[in-house]
Amino acid sequence: MIVRLAEHAGFCFGVKKAILLAEESLNEPRKWYTLGPLVHNKNVVEDLRKKGLSTVSTTDEIIDSQAGVVIRSHGVANQVIMDLKNKGVKIIDATCPRVKYIQNLVLSLSTDNYDIVIFGDENHPEIIGIRGWCAGNSHVVSSTTDLESLKLKKKVALVSQTTKNINDYNEVANALLKNYHELRVFNTICNSTKKRQEASYQLSKNVDVMLVIGDKESSNTKTLTKECLSTGVRTYQIESINDISNNWFDNDVCAVGVTAGASTPDWIIKEVIDKMTNMDEKGAHGMENEINLESSEQSVSAEVLDEGLVQDNSQQEESFAKMEAEMADLTSPSKGDIVTGKVIQVLDDEVMVDVGGKSEGIIPLRELSLKDISSAKDLVNIGDEIEVLVLKWDDDGNILLSKKRVDSQKFMDKLEESYNNGETIEGHITGTVKGGLLVDVGVTAFIPASHIDDSFIKNLDDFIGKTMQFKIIEFNRNKRRGSQVVLSRKEIMAGEKAKLKKEFWENISEDQVKTGRIKRIVDYGAFIDLGGYEGLLHVSEIDHHRIEHPAEVFSEGDEIDVYILGLDREKERVSLSRKKMLKSPWEVLSEQYDEGDIIEGTVVRLTSFGAFVELAPGVDGLIHISQLANYRVEKPEEVVTIGEKVATKILGLNKEEKKISLSLKEANNVREQAEIDDYIDNQDM
Ligand code: F3S
Repeated sequence: MIVRLAEHAGFCFGVKKAILLAEESLNEPRKWYTLGPLVHNKNVVEDLRKKGLSTVSTTDEIIDSQAGVVIRSHGVANQVIMDLKNKGVKIIDATCPRVKYIQNLVLSLSTDNYDIVIFGDENHPEIIGIRGWCAGNSHVVSSTTDLESLKLKKKVALVSQTTKNINDYNEVANALLKNYHELRVFNTICNSTKKRQEASYQLSKNVDVMLVIGDKESSNTKTLTKECLSTGVRTYQIESINDISNNWFDNDVCAVGVTAGASTPDWIIKEVIDKMTNMDEKGAHGMENEINLESSEQSVSAEVLDEGLVQDNSQQEESFAKMEAEMADLTSPSKGDIVTGKVIQVLDDEVMVDVGGKSEGIIPLRELSLKDISSAKDLVNIGDEIEVLVLKWDDDGNILLSKKRVDSQKFMDKLEESYNNGETIEGHITGTVKGGLLVDVGVTAFIPASHIDDSFIKNLDDFIGKTMQFKIIEFNRNKRRGSQVVLSRKEIMAGEKAKLKKEFWENISEDQVKTGRIKRIVDYGAFIDLGGYEGLLHVSEIDHHRIEHPAEVFSEGDEIDVYILGLDREKERVSLSRKKMLKSPWEVLSEQYDEGDIIEGTVVRLTSFGAFVELAPGVDGLIHISQLANYRVEKPEEVVTIGEKVATKILGLNKEEKKISLSLKEANNVREQAEIDDYIDNQDM
C-alpha cells in the first residue's frame, strides 16, 4: 500500500505565525490569555496551555491589568480590541494577515455606505470578528438560499470567509449579481486554503482512500473533506492516529492519500503517515466509520470572478505569498534582498536557483545578463554559485530572481567609485544617438559629441566599435530619464595635455632638436605639436631659400624634426626652426666644388663692375667685368644678359666671407682648349 501526502498540507502561514507569536509572548513573565482557542486544533491548544497560555471565552474573564492577550489567527471584533485596551492589558495581535485584510476591507466599504454580505459560517470566530469591523449592516450567508430573505441597499459588497470553496463562493456572487448591479466582489478566500483544496482534490483522484487530518471544529478541514468526497473517493476525517481504524483498509486498497487542515501540526501528520506505513507492513483489512458527507455539486461557475467583478488584490496576494513562504522557512529571502544561491537547473530560457528556504527561485533569460545572450546555458552551469536579487514572489511561493540587476548594481557601485575618485574607465563604443555616442561600460553610458575629442568631430560613426578610456563627468543612479552615466574623453585628453605641458616646460631648452607633428598650417607658418605643447615654425624658418607658403613643403599630420629657436616661458611661446637644421646652400656648394672647377649658373644681375650669377638658391658668384671675355669689355651686357645660363670657372671660394669669384673668360678658354684638343685628337686618327 502506497501512502501519499498531499503537496500542500498542514500548518498555513497564518497559523504558524500565531503559534510563533504566542510562544514568543510566553517568554515574557505575565499571565497570558487567548480569547477562544488560538487555532482550531486541540493538540496545539493543549500544548500551549501547558506552556502558560490560558483560553478564555470573553474579555470579562480577564481581570489582571498586567496580563497579556494573544489575539488568535481568526481575529476579533474591533470592540474586543477596545475592551482589552481599556483594561490596560498587553495585546499581541496574531490575527492572520489575510483575515486582517478582510477586516480593513469591510471597515472601509461599510464606511462608504456599502451593505456587507459575508459568505461563511455565522458562528465561526473569523466571521464574528469580521462583522465586528463593519461600520453598518452586515449579513452572513452560507448558500444562495440565504440570499432570498436579504433586503440590501443599492451598494453591496461581497467577501468570503478565508477557508471557503471558490466554486460555492462563485455561486453566491452570481446569484447576487442578478439582483444587485452595484455589486463589488472580493476574492478573499485564502490562497493557502485554495492550494490545500486543489492538492487534496488532485490526490483524491489517484488514491483508494483519503485521510483528512484536522480538528472537527476546523472549517478549512471540513472543506478539505468535502473536496475529497467530491471525487468519489472514500474519505475519513480524523483528528489523530487514534481515530484510524484498521478496517478501513481492505486488500483492495493500494494507495492512501493523506491531507491535513491548516491547523494541523507536522508531528500529527507524521504520526498518521508512520501508522499507515506500519499498518501496510502488518496487513490491514476491513472497513468502518466511513464519513458520509455529501459531495458538493461542482458546477464551476467562475464567470463572475473572471469577468473583473472581483477587485484586484494582486499586490495583497503577492505580499501574502511572501509571508507564507517566509513562515514556511524563516530564512527565505525577502523582496529586494540580494542573496547567493546555487544553480540547480539550467534551461535555454530560464535558470532555477536554490536560494535557501523551501522555495526555488527562477531567473528568466531576460533577467540573467546585461549582455544579449540567446541561451542561459551560455552563461551558467549547474552548481554555480551566483548572486541574485529577489524581485517578487508569485502565488505559488516561487521567487522571481534577477542576476542582471545584481550585476548592474555592482557595475553601478564600481562606476560610482570611479566617478568619486576621478578615475578613468574603459568602454566600448556601440552606437550613436542624438547628440552623442552610446558606450558600453558594463552598463550603457552616454558621451556627448562635444566630449568625444578636444577638436570638432565631423563623423561620429568613425568611433563606433572602438574601445577607449573615459572619465565619468555625471553619475546619478536615480535618474529616470536620460543616461545615469555621462562620459567624457575630452577631459582625459585635457588632463593628459596638462601633464605633458608641465613635463614639456620642465625639460625643454633652446637649441634642442625635437620631433613634432604638424598640427595646423597657416599663411605665416605651421604649428607643430611637440607632444605636450605647440610651437610655431615661421615660414621664414622653414628653409634657407624663400618659401611662399608652408603648404608648399608640408601637409598637416607630417612628422618633422625642428630646432628650438627661442622660448618665452612667460608667454609660453616656442619658436621653431627647420632651416637651422638644414645645410645652407653655401655649405652644400663649398663641399661640392673647389677653385678651378667649372660651375653652371644663371645671370641674375648686372652691375658696372660685373655680372652676378646664381649658382644655387641664395648663392651668387661674381664675374668681374675683366673676367667676362678675352677682350676689353666696357659694360657686362655686351657679353651676357640677365637670365642667361653660363658656365664659369671658380677663381676663388672664400668660405668665411661666403664669396665666390668666377671667370667666364677662363671657362671659355678651358672649353675652347678642350675643343682644340679634341680636334687634334681626332686628326691624329
Ligand atoms: Fe490565514 Fe489562510 Fe491560515 S487565512 S490562518 S493563512 S488558512
